[in-house]
Order: sequence, then C-alpha cells, then structure tokens
Amino acid sequence: MKVLLTGGAGFMGSNMVRYLLNKRQDIELVNVDKLTYAGNLDNLKDVTGHPHYSFVKADIADREAMERVFKKFHPDVVINYAAETHVDRSISRPFDFAMTDVIGTLTLLESSRASGVTKFVQISTDEVYGSIEDGEWNESTPFDPSSPYSASKASGDHLVHAYWKTYGFPGIVTHSCNFFGPYQYPEKLIPLFITNLLEKKKIPVYGDGAQVREWIFVSDHCAAIESILDRGVAGESYNIGTGNRITNLELTKKLLATLDATDDSIEYVKDRPGHDRRYALDATKLKSTLGWKPIVSIDDGLRSTVQWYRDHEAWWHKIKSGEYLAYYKEQYHG
Ligand code: NAD
Ligand code: TYD
Repeated sequence: MKVLLTGGAGFMGSNMVRYLLNKRQDIELVNVDKLTYAGNLDNLKDVTGHPHYSFVKADIADREAMERVFKKFHPDVVINYAAETHVDRSISRPFDFAMTDVIGTLTLLESSRASGVTKFVQISTDEVYGSIEDGEWNESTPFDPSSPYSASKASGDHLVHAYWKTYGFPGIVTHSCNFFGPYQYPEKLIPLFITNLLEKKKIPVYGDGAQVREWIFVSDHCAAIESILDRGVAGESYNIGTGNRITNLELTKKLLATLDATDDSIEYVKDRPGHDRRYALDATKLKSTLGWKPIVSIDDGLRSTVQWYRDHEAWWHKIKSGEYLAYYKEQYHG
C-alpha cells in the first residue's frame, strides 16, 4: 500500500511514520512536510534511509507542488497530519491557520480526488466541538469551535465530508483528544512544563487551571489511526478518546511530583482568550466497530514522556534556544 502522509516531520506525524515503517512491511511511505517551525527532520533521524521511506519538502496548500507529488508517487491512501496546531499562535496569527488547515486540506483533497486515492484520513481534533460542561460528544454533535485553530480544523473537516457527499470521495475524519509523548514541540502544556521544570523555570498555568482536557499517549493514537486505515468506513467520522480526563492543575501536580518540584514553580498567568473549559469524547463507535482500545494510562504515559525529555535534552534545548524563544518572549514577556 502506498501511503502519502503529510506533516510527518511534526510531533504526531513523525511518531506515525516510525510506527508504520516499523510495523508494516506492506507500506511504502512518502512524507510531505513544509518544515514550518514545528517540522523537524531531527524527529526522523532513525528512519532516514529506510528503503520504503521518502521525504518531500512541500506546502500542502501549493497546488502545483501537490500535483507533482501525486503524479510521481500515485498514493493509494493519504493521511493528513499537516496543520498549524497551537491554539495560542492561532490567536495572534489566524491567517497561517486558515491557509494550511482550510486551503491546504482542500488542495490535498482535490489532488487526491484527481489521482484516484482510495482512502483519505483527516487527522482532526475534539476542539471542533467547542466546550462541554457535562457529558460527552459523539460523532453527531454539531461543531462549535472557539479558536481560530479549531474553526480552521472544523472547516477542513467539513470539506472532507462535503467531498464524500458531493463526489463520493472516500474521506474519513478523526477527532482526537490531546496527544502527549516523545517529540512534542515544547509549546504545548506537557512538554513546556516538563522542560521548564528540568531548567528550574516557572510553569505558566492559564487562569484558574480548572480546565479539563482528555489525554491520549502517542502509541494509542497511532494504533487508532492504523485501525481506521485498515477498517475505517468511507464518509464516517470517528472520535478517538480515552476517558483519561483531568484538570490542568491536577496534571501540573503530577508533573511537579514526577520532577521533584513544588507548587512554588507554578505561575498563574492571564487566561487564554476564548479558553474552552472542558473536553470529553465518547469513543464508543471506534471501540465497538473497529475494535480499538487505549492501553496507556496517564501516569505511565507521563512517566515515559518525562524520561524521554530527560534523555533528549539536546533535542529540546535546540528548539527552546531558537525560534521558540523569540516567539515565547513576544507572547508572554514583551
Ligand atoms: P505539529 O505542530 O507538531 O506538526 C505539524 C506538522 O505539519 C509540522 O511538521 C509542520 O512542518 C507541518 N506543516 C504545517 N503546515 C504545513 C503545510 N502547509 N504543508 C505541509 N506541512 C505543513 O502537530 P501535531 O501536534 O503533531 O498535530 C498533528 C495533527 O494532529 C494536526 O492535524 C492537529 O490538528 C491534529 N491534532 C493534534 C492534537 C494534539 O494534541 N497535538 C490533538 C488532536 C488532533
Ligand atoms: P495545549 O497543550 O496548548 O493544548 P490545547 O490548547 O490544544 O488543548 O493546552 C492544554 C491546556 O493547558 C489548555 O487548557 C491550555 C493550558 N495551558 C496552560 O495552562 N499553560 C500553558 O503554558 C499552555 C501551553 C497551555
């Protein structure tokens, strides 16, 4: 099976490239990535040179570039991980999000349709549903996004469904809870807090820290996408949820305990505008129809994630002393 995977130099995309190449002999994979600030070829050092792997630096919103890639490779399947992904950046730079998450998705859909792709898996987020006080979202819950990030992802997801209804194009949309694990860019809560604590710096908790997020470890998400690649039904959506829900403050306390730090490291800062209060997914459909289930608990996942960041200081140090530092200073410290 020929797989075109986009965004494979980012956090989750690179984990999936590694997962598929290690596990599946039947797969030939091309990774298409623009290498934005979040794309990092250091994430893929161990697969470079693999006989079934190739890399193309390109923007998914560039129609000519996509036509060239599809003509050359002729993929059977497309998995779209490429996106602008950080909610805080979407508040200050919304156009980047619309360009990649909306126009990029549309461009990829159009090239995929023209090239006869037989399955298109859109990697999306639970954030498209908005915020829920009690209960859980299922796949029929209407979208109600709060941030330019989630609104752009929701638009991309609508386009995937519209391509199914209009052209019979076999797209599938996945809505996942928050990822965590190795290679996550240290702007998101878990890697930011771990690396700040390793550097003996403060950790910025937004608002009162009582927001609830649901968490999935990388290997569980890779297995969910593999089950959708193999058995997912065209035109459907699947929620990828674990039920592992926790407030940001509870999560912060777990990280403090794992890293032998105290509450003194916490700095309560101004809340994020439009901050969603609670996310909660009903993943019954994925579990009962495709047989997937999550295996890694929050505590086990956090332990191995903390260990990974301890063991890969050079990886995150390089990031935190470059582009990231300039961005972070601009956002939070004038
Ligand atoms: P990331 O920010 O770590 O990586 C994104 C990758 O996409 C980078 O390699 C970047 O270079 C690439 N990219 C960005 N714009 C591009 C463009 N125009 N053309 C080609 N490549 C481009 O992202 P992540 O956290 O690994 O998320 C991957 C996907 O999963 C995204 O679609 C995101 O919306 C979705 N998602 C993420 C989470 C999460 O918790 N991080 C949860 C649910 C869904
Ligand atoms: P984040 O990792 O940015 O993911 P998302 O916004 O996509 O859920 O944030 C997770 C939660 O942590 C979210 O409620 C915002 C909060 N947060 C902080 O309190 N401090 C931080 O420095 C960051 C980055 C996030």
